[in-house]
Amino acid sequence: MKTLRDLNLHDKRVLVRVDFNVPMDEHGNITDDIRIRTALPTIRYILKNKGKLILCSHMGRPKGKRVEAFSLAPVAAHLQGLLDCKVRLAPDCIGEEVEAIVADMRKGEVVLLENLRFHKEETENERGFAEKLARLADVYVNDAFAASHRAHASVVGITECVQEKAAGFLLQTEMEYFHKSMDEPIRPLVALVGGAKVSSKLGALENMLDRVDCMIIGGAMANTFLKSMGVDVGASKVEEDLLETAKKFLKAAEKKGVRLYLPVDFVAADSFSPDAVVKNVTFRDIPKNWMALDIGPATVIYFQEALADARTIVWNGPMGAFEMDAFARGTMAMCRAVASSHALSIIGGGDSNAAVKKSGEEKNISYMSTGGGAFLELMEGKTLPGVAALD
Ligand code: 3PG
Repeated sequence: MKTLRDLNLHDKRVLVRVDFNVPMDEHGNITDDIRIRTALPTIRYILKNKGKLILCSHMGRPKGKRVEAFSLAPVAAHLQGLLDCKVRLAPDCIGEEVEAIVADMRKGEVVLLENLRFHKEETENERGFAEKLARLADVYVNDAFAASHRAHASVVGITECVQEKAAGFLLQTEMEYFHKSMDEPIRPLVALVGGAKVSSKLGALENMLDRVDCMIIGGAMANTFLKSMGVDVGASKVEEDLLETAKKFLKAAEKKGVRLYLPVDFVAADSFSPDAVVKNVTFRDIPKNWMALDIGPATVIYFQEALADARTIVWNGPMGAFEMDAFARGTMAMCRAVASSHALSIIGGGDSNAAVKKSGEEKNISYMSTGGGAFLELMEGKTLPGVAALD
């Protein structure tokens, strides 16, 4: 796979697919700009090398229609502040007007195209749309790791319509960290997996089982595993249809010699609410009609022990309903345990990243991936279409 440094950018129109799908509040203020900041090394490199920089991204899921709430205008303004140079927002991402704007560009100028998903052809990976995008470019760069699991026109289709293509620095860094942690890890490799559903992570769990030395399972998904072992988890969230699968998974882990850690106690609550009545209980004592909403203090110690020896840690998914303070302790304790370990630590997924941010431990994590779905697909052992298309 070629990277940015392999390209001659001087005076070239460089079309960069970024993922500026950033969270915004109801007033249109960006609440987390990490995806913009992590694209800056690529952006700055292209400007320094006198390329004409054309950025393109999606925002939200406007389903092929122009929806002003999904305009990239706030992103253009924010990027302009970060770069300290003018960022012009084009009125669209394809068409004659956009082609004219790009034709007028000088070396070192920046244009951000409007939301790609205002055209349904983007998500359909339609050839004609990809060709129109490619008309704006001498060189194509994919720096949208977080969108590289989508076989969309600006990620995949376009690579067949341009001569020169390469990975940007962010995509390169993400893939390198993942490779280091999953393909050639320093062992023991420990996976910490949490979140609500086994169903959404089953592929990742199964693939990881072949790679890790130890797996820690927390979050609501642990309930399904415990129930499959005959534990009464009260009114906790359980995927009944996956009990058999969970049972088989536990057996497979044993067969493969993977040490599996499940919670031994919980913070249980009488309702899913910030002011619920709560108490700490062992896994055997969850009261009827109560639900487990966080791992308990004994589990924290037990999981910390599992993490203590790790030389590589891959983490996806929180340990409980951490968005409510009453159920955040377990996840916060895991953030601190991962942050203080000597292991190479890689964290991916929106919830886990938000948890680390809440804990204030971001700087002590080796690498925080910008990907949610893309990170999970790598954990599942899949090849990302956007990465494959660059080869
Ligand atoms: C993400 O936020 O995970 C990426 O931007 C991809 O967005 P999507 O799930 O709407 O394709």
